[in-house]
Amino acid sequence: MNSETLSAKLFQAFSGSRCLVTGGAGSIGSQLVRDLVTFGASVTVLDNFSSGHLSNLAAVQSQVRVVRGSVASSIDLQSAFVREPEYVFHLAAHFANQNSIEHPYSDMLTNAVGTQLVLDCARNDKRLKGFVYASSSCVLGAQPGVMHEETRPAPETPYGVSKLAGEHYTVVYAQVYGLPAAVVRYFNVFGPGERPGRYRNVIPNFMHRAIHGDTLTITGSGDESREFVYITEAVRGTMLAAITPEARGQVFHLGSGNNVTVRELGQKIVSLSGNRSKLDFKPRRSWDGVSRRETSSERAKQLLGYEAHTSFDEGLQRTWAWINECELAAGCLDREISPVHATMNEAVRFAVAGD
Ligand SMILES: NC(=O)c1ccc[n+]([C@@H]2O[C@H](COP(=O)([O-])OP(=O)(O)OC[C@H]3O[C@@H](n4cnc5c(N)ncnc54)[C@H](O)[C@@H]3O)[C@@H](O)[C@H]2O)c1
Repeated sequence: MNSETLSAKLFQAFSGSRCLVTGGAGSIGSQLVRDLVTFGASVTVLDNFSSGHLSNLAAVQSQVRVVRGSVASSIDLQSAFVREPEYVFHLAAHFANQNSIEHPYSDMLTNAVGTQLVLDCARNDKRLKGFVYASSSCVLGAQPGVMHEETRPAPETPYGVSKLAGEHYTVVYAQVYGLPAAVVRYFNVFGPGERPGRYRNVIPNFMHRAIHGDTLTITGSGDESREFVYITEAVRGTMLAAITPEARGQVFHLGSGNNVTVRELGQKIVSLSGNRSKLDFKPRRSWDGVSRRETSSERAKQLLGYEAHTSFDEGLQRTWAWINECELAAGCLDREISPVHATMNEAVRFAVAGD
């Protein structure tokens, strides 16, 4: 599908529709919100701003209704669902592996319990046409060879477990309650909007360090590879999953074919910066057994019409330009919230709201 045909299809589906995006202030969620607004949707965002930023929504702030609250709170969810959205995109998450290892309870509360609560609200939403749950390749753990939707999941971290629980809930809600719900699994999504930070992905962190001429630390030999997917591709795949009736009850891998080693990635970023940052190698993290993460996206291509066109280098350049702007404006390091405070807050809300 060429990009004009795809845009026309998405415009036809979303123009005038009501959408809810949980985690809509996050890096992927905010791109989705901006695109939905461009296609004429009326969007509500539910976000607790634990890793999201209101500034990510600056371009569409006046067109979006923001509910500041948690997916782990039935009260906040009621407020988010009050307009009976036709499409629900569930992206809110406690992100990601290292964060979950340090804070497994928060992780479970948002990713597993929160997902079940979001699904339950969607079940009672009489106008619902499509629901998409954003999952992760982390549910698969370390696997030999190319990953497929049929590959047996073997999560290696609490995050992998909680995201897999969310997947199972979504598929079961589709089977048992007839919810028009699908699961998309993202693979190392990157692009403008993701700030560097302790729990964030490798690309913004390497870029942040390269801008300052600091050493880029690689945990492993550098020969580990990942399938990097430019953000707008993942977002298009997510929108397609929401509007495709055949997607219901199914899981889709949204890959790109851009398989890059971490060493090559570091070299590319140092070269973009024009600085002399060195690559430094440290032992692998105990939980990170994934040497090569590569996927087939054939099912998404066949059923959704998904195709990733952005080349890795093009995506990297756009991300580099954004991080530099962000760094110049205010310094772009993600603030670190107090996890204990976050956990207590969620727990209290949940106790009030629980069934
Ligand atoms: N970025 C990736 O490479 C990647 C890869 C695989 C899967 N995913 C999934 O994609 C989704 C979006 O990821 P992202 O990279 O945009 O992460 P992000 O951290 O930027 O976005 C997550 C958003 O959820 C919000 N949030 C967290 N806990 C919440 C809660 N209890 N209630 C309401 N909002 C809450 C955060 O404030 C943030 O805005 C997540 O579900 C994540 O698991 C991302």
